[in-house]
Amino acid sequence: MNITKKQKIPYEILPYGQLLPIRIADIIDNAIRANRDNGRKTVLGLAAGSSPLPIYSELIRRRNYTNLDFSNVVTFNVDEYYGLPPIHPESFCSYMGKNLLDHINVKEENTHFLDGSVSRSHIERHCSEYESAIKEAGGIDILLLGIGRNGHIGFNEPGSSIDSRTRLVKLDEMTRQDAAQNFGCLQNVPEYGITMGVGTILEAKYVILIATGHHKAELIRKTIQDADENVTASYLNFHVKTRIFLDRKSASGLKPG
Ligand code: GLP
Repeated sequence: MNITKKQKIPYEILPYGQLLPIRIADIIDNAIRANRDNGRKTVLGLAAGSSPLPIYSELIRRRNYTNLDFSNVVTFNVDEYYGLPPIHPESFCSYMGKNLLDHINVKEENTHFLDGSVSRSHIERHCSEYESAIKEAGGIDILLLGIGRNGHIGFNEPGSSIDSRTRLVKLDEMTRQDAAQNFGCLQNVPEYGITMGVGTILEAKYVILIATGHHKAELIRKTIQDADENVTASYLNFHVKTRIFLDRKSASGLKPG
């Protein structure tokens, strides 16, 4: 694999506490209002993990205090653990309900999840139906992503190909170790996940990647400045509309210039 850098991904550095979630919520809020005014739906791609949590809180706050209307919003989650039913407390489906969807007026039929409980024999069909549903919705307008400690986006672990589609993947040891605390111990962490592919992600109209904390600093340098081929997020260099949002800690590894 040889990644030729096509463009430098634009990035913004903002204080994590307040400004960063407000800035990203503004982008989503503006899109929802503009699309609604034009009679259009807004299709969001959503990620789990700790990074998007302040953004989800800010969106809930706007629903409660500014009447932001989610009735025209459609959501697709990026990934899910394979082997967990949607109601499992650690599924990303439960996470999304708890942290966003149960608190806003999105219509249940407009929310889409990869199902970690489908049988192996049905996974391929399930994944291709997910891809079709994204297409039928008109594609993803804004896709919110975090970045794993090994550089993954969704569950596209190192070695994922640029044209990969939604599929079953074996989780990296680092990914499982990072999830161990949530599951009580490493043995309880599923060994597989289902994820939108890199190719699926690159089809989104706008991608927002959030990275915060010192532990993401080296990764971010590798993604933005080195286009390191072992960091899956580097594929975003091929996407014309990606913006990375950093706090000062995650930006601390960037070389000047
Ligand atoms: C998990 C999820 C990703 C998420 C990543 C980063 O592995 N599969 O979708 O983006 O972790 O998590 P965090 O934001 O907690 O660093």
